[in-house]
Amino acid sequence: MMRRQYLRLPHVLRLALVSVLTLGAARVLLDGLRNNLAWGEYETARVPIEVSEEEIIEDGCNVFEGRWVWDNASYPLYREEKCPFLVKQTTCVKNGRPDSLYQNWRWQPNACNLPRFDGLKLMEMLRDKRLMFVGDSIQRGMFESMVCLLHSVIPTTGKRSIRRIPPRKVFKVEEFNASIEYYWAPFIIESISDHATNHTVSRRLVKLDSVAKHGKEWAGVDILIFESYVWWMYRPVINVTYGSTDKLQTFNVTTAYRLALETWANWIESSINPVTQKIFFMTMSPTHLWSWEWKPGTDGNCFNETHPTERSYLGTGSNLDIMGTVQDVIRQLKVNVRVLNITQLSEFRKDGHTSIFGERKGKLLTREQRSDPNNFTDCIHWCLPGVPDTWNEILYAILLQDYRAQR
Ligand SMILES: *[C@@H]1O[C@H](CO)[C@@H](O)[C@H](O)[C@H]1NC(C)=O
Ligand SMILES: *[C@@H]1O[C@H](CO)[C@@H](O)[C@H](O)[C@H]1NC(C)=O
Ligand SMILES: *[C@@H]1O[C@H](CO)[C@@H](O)[C@H](O)[C@H]1NC(C)=O
Ligand SMILES: *[C@@H]1O[C@H](CO)[C@@H](O)[C@H](O)[C@H]1NC(C)=O
Ligand SMILES: *[C@@H]1O[C@H](CO)[C@@H](O)[C@H](O)[C@H]1NC(C)=O
Ligand SMILES: *[C@@H]1O[C@H](CO)[C@@H](O)[C@H](O)[C@H]1NC(C)=O
Ligand SMILES: *[C@@H]1O[C@H](CO)[C@@H](O)[C@H](O)[C@H]1NC(C)=O
Ligand SMILES: *[C@@H]1O[C@H](CO)[C@@H](O)[C@H](O)[C@H]1NC(C)=O
Repeated sequence: MMRRQYLRLPHVLRLALVSVLTLGAARVLLDGLRNNLAWGEYETARVPIEVSEEEIIEDGCNVFEGRWVWDNASYPLYREEKCPFLVKQTTCVKNGRPDSLYQNWRWQPNACNLPRFDGLKLMEMLRDKRLMFVGDSIQRGMFESMVCLLHSVIPTTGKRSIRRIPPRKVFKVEEFNASIEYYWAPFIIESISDHATNHTVSRRLVKLDSVAKHGKEWAGVDILIFESYVWWMYRPVINVTYGSTDKLQTFNVTTAYRLALETWANWIESSINPVTQKIFFMTMSPTHLWSWEWKPGTDGNCFNETHPTERSYLGTGSNLDIMGTVQDVIRQLKVNVRVLNITQLSEFRKDGHTSIFGERKGKLLTREQRSDPNNFTDCIHWCLPGVPDTWNEILYAILLQDYRAQR
């Protein structure tokens, strides 16, 4: 059952309260500002963040272990139709999904509570900073989720914009001089699929020892979140170059993934300043392609699923060799890279995928395609609002603990 211990550390709160960020900053408490004052008057105010006791995650609580609880009072955290930045791949209800129950679940860790997501606190933590999601379309979903989570709280006076600077997408909030970015790199390292829109899906060639071109664009980013998985899993083997740039080789995916991650790890060690930069690696987002895994005897996929599974299981789509590789490589790094281990928690959520209410090749499914769910259901991508919001809530929770620790 839930074990809830309040930390007996009053000085923690006090520190958070008295801290002021920089010279000349208005000492206005966040709550006061939000409730009583017009935002426009405080465009340059730097606001110390109060971290309350309820928001503290006690040491030793694994926030990735827990269960989903029904909470239609507080969830979703934003409305699908109110976020203008969602691409149509994720807007399942607008695309015709008849149920929206998948929007109403809250992740409840076993040993503690997650702090409630507070977008204003996050904006304050991101002031003068860049946060960048790097990876494939799963990461793009997390990026959009983050943009929507923040959009709803940014004061209406604040200028915000989203720009495509391929392979980046940049959401900029001028009032905070902050940017939330997405960088398309489906294999993290370089590949022939790096063009933001014109990338082959069936032909894949990864350059296992090249990351410099991407690395240039990641340099100096304050918070980086990496993810790469599904693009590797097309076939058991993959075409690569390694060592010699013009000699094509075929490697098994397990080996190729490890070599790629080592290339990335070398970049991290040589390029990251661990004092000023934070690095996260997100584990694989699970797929729900085979309904027999959660409903023995059936032969479908995630189509028509409306509830999370009750029993925890790890689907065969989540490759444990790859998981082990991620763990090994990150453990050996000299730079602290934190793992956002979202695999198991998302594995419960067979109901959260776009199913037949998403896109294929940039177009919404036709009625004929929808009537053929065996061929056309997408059990990889997620509807928004939905599961990626939880990944961001956890990321937020961790950043908030960091912030408190640094006071
Ligand atoms: C929330 O869920 C409860 C239990 O399923 C239901 O009775 C109630 O009508 C729901 N409320 C809203 C606003 O949907
Ligand atoms: C805005 O943020 C960037 C970092 O993202 C920083 O280099 C720059 O100095 C900031 N500008 C101001 C006016 O603080
Ligand atoms: C997409 O890339 C391929 C191969 O690199 C190229 O032949 C084709 O002209 C490109 N298409 C567009 C629309 O740019
Ligand atoms: C590897 O490349 C060769 C030559 O381009 C191609 O024929 C083959 O289908 C590719 N294999 C895979 C697994 O993509
Ligand atoms: C992949 O290749 C490595 C080295 O060649 C080998 O040790 C490993 O067993 C292979 N894995 C699979 C799944 O074939
Ligand atoms: C979807 O599921 C519901 C109940 O679980 C069932 O009644 C309905 O026939 C299913 N729809 C299709 C198209 O399979
Ligand atoms: C993620 O958590 C699972 C348990 O849910 C564990 O087996 C796995 O090793 C963890 N992965 C990493 C990279 O820490
Ligand atoms: C649809 O799936 C069936 C088998 O379930 C297969 O025979 C058929 O070729 C598929 N059609 C398309 C367009 O993918």
